[in-house]
Amino acid sequence: MIEHEAHRVDPATARYWDDLYQQRDRVWSGRVNAVLAEVVDPLGPGTALDLGCGEGGDAIWLAGRGWRVTAVDVSTTALDRLTAEATRAGVASRITVARHDLTRTFPAGRYDLVSAQFLQSPLELSRQAVLRNAARAVTAGGRLLVVEHGAPPPWARESHPHAHFASPEEILAALDLDADGWHTERLEAYHRTGTGPDGETGTLVDHVVLVRRD
Ligand SMILES: C[S@@+](CC[C@H](N)C(=O)[O-])C[C@H]1O[C@@H](n2cnc3c(N)ncnc32)[C@H](O)[C@@H]1O
Repeated sequence: MIEHEAHRVDPATARYWDDLYQQRDRVWSGRVNAVLAEVVDPLGPGTALDLGCGEGGDAIWLAGRGWRVTAVDVSTTALDRLTAEATRAGVASRITVARHDLTRTFPAGRYDLVSAQFLQSPLELSRQAVLRNAARAVTAGGRLLVVEHGAPPPWARESHPHAHFASPEEILAALDLDADGWHTERLEAYHRTGTGPDGETGTLVDHVVLVRRD
């Protein structure tokens, strides 16, 4: 069932992201993120938490493969689009939609997969606190996948809003994991071909951390 859960949000953060989404009918491709698909492909379905889910490309893909997904974002515009698309795709019964400002509140529960795909913002985002909460939300035997932009896209003309692109090692360090309780399965720069706003193609660099809780 899809349900909205109202939670305390920073109005400026919500406004920024809602404005961004309202500039276009669709902001992201709607396709699953490449690394997430690679990671999930060999796994059987379980429970997943999608942090900063946007318009729901990943959540809907996961639900289509039988996962029960909690999809979280601060933007009601993005969540409404996700809800509509999940209904169209016939997977709404496997997705719970929850509105959180993750710098203020975090969903309850433990999950087989916690995914943070490009949960980056030009606004203040206490990444470290969010990532540590994300690690705490992983069940025994479950995984946390963090994928972040590792460099500005080749078509970026101005200075990029993310002043610093954390290396995979810096992302892992920010998680502050107990070394005995976790295995690092991927720690890498991932290169993929992307398309820019004017249709130009180029190589994008993503920084990837995949850890599994014992
Ligand atoms: C770059 S987009 C990535 C969207 C999606 N994960 C994807 O890969 O297409 C970042 C998302 O994080 C959300 N976001 C940013 N700050 C947030 C916050 N403090 N709490 C919850 N969501 C936030 C935005 O609304 C946006 O949907």
